Amino acid sequence: MPQIFPKAINPIAKMLVLGFPLLAGLTGVTGAAFYRSSYATGVDETPPQPVAFSHAHHVGQLGIHCVYCHTSVETSGFANVPPTKTCMNCHQQIWQGADLLEPVRESYKTDKPIEWNRVHNLPHYAYFNHSIHVNKGVGCVSCHGRLDQMNLTGQASTLLMEWCIACHREPEKHLRPKEEIFNMTWTPAQKTIDPKDGQPYPTNQKELGLLLKERYRVRDAVTLTNCSMCHR
Ligand code: HEC
Ligand code: HEC
Ligand code: HEC
Ligand code: HEC
Ligand code: HEC
Repeated sequence: MPQIFPKAINPIAKMLVLGFPLLAGLTGVTGAAFYRSSYATGVDETPPQPVAFSHAHHVGQLGIHCVYCHTSVETSGFANVPPTKTCMNCHQQIWQGADLLEPVRESYKTDKPIEWNRVHNLPHYAYFNHSIHVNKGVGCVSCHGRLDQMNLTGQASTLLMEWCIACHREPEKHLRPKEEIFNMTWTPAQKTIDPKDGQPYPTNQKELGLLLKERYRVRDAVTLTNCSMCHR
């Protein structure tokens, strides 16, 4: 259960009391513009990686399912990046001599994990949880964009608080049937069949969103925008 108020002195409370007015006063408009710039948020940046792993090839072309590699995304707060063993399931046979894959073979031999650079990185004072989003009808593509078209992995959304809150205010604009969570190209217009009654779901997002909001028991906007929801 989320508490009404987070622990007596948490970093956010401190920031609100000390940091916020000071920062706002000092930096003003330039600060606000910088804060939202893609330089500051990391949108569209593709951090260098030890291996040129491509979602476009593995997901877009080969059609490998997200959960084959990100096994914990439905069941835990954290979505894991796959261990080297997962790569070797295929790469012991496919492209097994390629230079591009040398760091993968080296990692497998020495049992040292590949050191992937993180693409997304929320500050530690913001609490996020994958499984609840995935289980309440928010698709990967709604937050991560078209991974199936990315060669190097980049960040599609700002991850700023205002981005989180915009959806928490009106989640019905983004909810989709749970069966379509991993589908990168799904739209409501596809007349997906509702397994409940064998009839198509509503094909307009507003109607569909309201139906799913009720079915998945998504809480109201006041609860979902409460500070203690994300700052615990
Ligand atoms: C064959 C394995 C594989 C599959 C399938 C796969 N991924 Fe990944 N994914 C990786 C690896 C390896 C990384 C770390 C390297 C990188 O960031 O490109 C990664 C990184 C990511 C990241 C960035 C993580 C960070 O550092 O912030 C996201 C988001 C992501 N994957 C989402 C997805 C989604 C959504 C799908 C399905 C549409 C998917 N992945 C399918 C292997 C996979
Ligand atoms: C289910 C099988 C499978 C798994 C699992 C898999 N790969 Fe691949 N990978 C392939 C195939 C097939 C190709 C060749 C694609 C092509 O020729 O277009 C490939 C190609 C590659 C390439 C060459 C460049 C490219 O994208 O074409 C790299 C690098 C690579 N994989 C890295 C990885 C890493 C790292 C992992 C583990 C996170 C991984 N692969 C997991 C099947 C797999
Ligand atoms: C509601 C938005 C949202 C949805 C939906 C979502 N993600 Fe994420 N994802 C995030 C955020 C935010 C982070 C950064 C978390 C952090 O830095 O603590 C992240 C990080 C990741 C990471 C890096 C490891 C981690 O947990 O920090 C992977 C891998 C990933 N997501 C895969 C997926 C896959 C696969 C799906 C679909 C099954 C998915 N995500 C759905 C927002 C989302
Ligand atoms: C596209 C829509 C969307 C975005 C973007 C989004 N969320 Fe959510 N979030 C939801 C929905 C839907 C739920 C489920 C609400 C419920 O169960 O009542 C949820 C639930 C949560 C919960 C509740 C977890 C729990 O254990 O009760 C937290 C925490 C949360 N989100 C944090 C975040 C953060 C942090 C971000 C931004 C980095 C974010 N969310 C972005 C839609 C979204
Ligand atoms: C849905 C999740 C969510 C809710 C609800 C939420 N926050 Fe945040 N908050 C975040 C995330 C994510 C960040 C980090 C990203 C950023 O800096 O925008 C953040 C950052 C902050 C920061 C520091 C960064 C800044 O904006 O300068 C403060 C202060 C803050 N939140 C206060 C609050 C207060 C007060 C409330 C309640 C009115 C609240 N938050 C509600 C997700 C949330």
